[in-house]
Amino acid sequence: MEAKRWVSLVLLAFILVGLSSSDFFVKDSEQQVQAISFISGLKATILGFFDETWVAMEDANAINEEIRPKHVILTPNLTTCHKSLSDADRPVYCCPPKRESLEPIIDFKFPDISEPIRVRKPAHMVDADYIAKYNKAIAIMKSLPYDDPRSYMRQANMHCIYCTGAYNQQNSNSLLKIHRSWMFFPWHRMMIYFHERILGSLIGDENFALPFWNWDSPEGMFIPDMYLNGSMVDTQRDSSHLPPQVADINYDYFERGLGPEDQISTNVAFMYNQMVSGAKKTELFMGCAYKAGEDGFCDGPGTIELAPHNALHTWVGSNLNTEREDLGAFYSAARDPIFYAHHSNIDRLWNVWNELRGNKPAIEDPEWLDSTFYFHNEKSQLVRIKIRDVLDSSKLRYAYENVENVWLNARPKPSVPPKIARQVLKMRENQNPFLDISNQAIVSPDFGLNGKRLDTTIRVKLRRPKTHRSKIEKEQEEEIIVVYGIDISKDAYVKFDVYVNAVDETMIGPESREFAGTFVNMKRGVRIVLNKGDLVVKRKTTFKVGITELLEDLEADGDETVWVTLVPRGGTGVNTTVDGVRIEYMK
Ligand code: C2O
Repeated sequence: MEAKRWVSLVLLAFILVGLSSSDFFVKDSEQQVQAISFISGLKATILGFFDETWVAMEDANAINEEIRPKHVILTPNLTTCHKSLSDADRPVYCCPPKRESLEPIIDFKFPDISEPIRVRKPAHMVDADYIAKYNKAIAIMKSLPYDDPRSYMRQANMHCIYCTGAYNQQNSNSLLKIHRSWMFFPWHRMMIYFHERILGSLIGDENFALPFWNWDSPEGMFIPDMYLNGSMVDTQRDSSHLPPQVADINYDYFERGLGPEDQISTNVAFMYNQMVSGAKKTELFMGCAYKAGEDGFCDGPGTIELAPHNALHTWVGSNLNTEREDLGAFYSAARDPIFYAHHSNIDRLWNVWNELRGNKPAIEDPEWLDSTFYFHNEKSQLVRIKIRDVLDSSKLRYAYENVENVWLNARPKPSVPPKIARQVLKMRENQNPFLDISNQAIVSPDFGLNGKRLDTTIRVKLRRPKTHRSKIEKEQEEEIIVVYGIDISKDAYVKFDVYVNAVDETMIGPESREFAGTFVNMKRGVRIVLNKGDLVVKRKTTFKVGITELLEDLEADGDETVWVTLVPRGGTGVNTTVDGVRIEYMK
């Protein structure tokens, strides 16, 4: 393989040099032009041919920039595990004791179809026998030595490695990260898949399945009791959030003080927004298209990743710890056994979202499908696995027990009848075109070079490029609000909500139709120690919010302008600036 590649490289070089220098033998200028265009056409054809064949080659480093393959695969470089430091400069070690690149690697194979299907059940509904079994498995896992990749801390540190960017990408100096993009769902599916099978094998039970924390269902909106005893305990949790406290799945970083019923109905309405009205297009739900290399970087998480995912991580983590460990910081999150049930539910919701759209493949881009990661299986073998391998959970021999998704019917209603709201908004504008009633300046939707700090509510009026779109047009293109250039200056919890045509956004939340979405930044808790030559692409974040259905419900579909408000929550916006807000259409 290696030798062949060199031969083709040398040959290619000869052809190209030959073609270029032949220019000099053409004397007549017109002839020369023709010859040059012929030659460059030929060159392009040859390069194109190599472009295609090159895709299959493993070592992209050897390739001249000009003939870089189109289809580069995102995968970690296992020789590069970085050390990291906590925000308080304490060293944090997540890397394996021995480089994974020194281990033999096997390719992933689907489990045999004779294997029983492992059925994941809601954590609040499992019986005592199951809890005892799971406790035993975790206890054994925790007793394994650190050099055993199946051990509990090694499992937890897999998450630390991939969430902090401890591995570089292969053939690139940029770091690989699996949050805040379309890597989020498949990577976590892989992680808990292997974890579940290791647990099962430790207790000799091939039926063993993880539970899921059914926080989107009213009965499941508590920290499940099973996590309060035995080996499932984690002392690093916010004690005021233990049962009977109802989970705030859209945590604003302060206690909203809602009674249980109001909290539950707010949660359910919020789920409707995150799963249905706010997730009509693949990118809105899955996150942005993160690809290999520096140019492939993107930072734009999908609805569910932002919240409940980030929000609940933070809600569970201890308020007494600076990084909100365990669950509240990425590096320590998987040390809490509840992490796996949290992600099991997120994984289930990925399936539900796919079902809602008739299970059509959502992403067919080979760069996503072929993205490759490495995990240890129950036999401690290092397995190479691709995203395309994990798109069908039945092939992975697990399933979710059917539960009712009550949020499907929880479409929120406007907090103020739309006609009245429109009058109030109009009046306000006429009274003073520059100031609204609450004394907040009306700013232009582009906030200029330095952006605008989110330490206070920002209200803008946006012109809509299209109104009165037909049903078909709306299905083809979702109208979205783009909050661009979000710059978070430190590793902190940041949260702001986006409202449309709200008369008073201080009084309302996701239970009201004016709520369009929320942006949540969860703490990493550590920063990695860079090696020489490492590239950290610091780019600003983009937050996209689907509003087609919301505009219909607010009877604003025919309006040429809408009011959009960004509301920082829990005093967290001080660390954040935003460059602007605009309306776009997403296919
Ligand atoms: Cu990788 Cu819930 O985080």
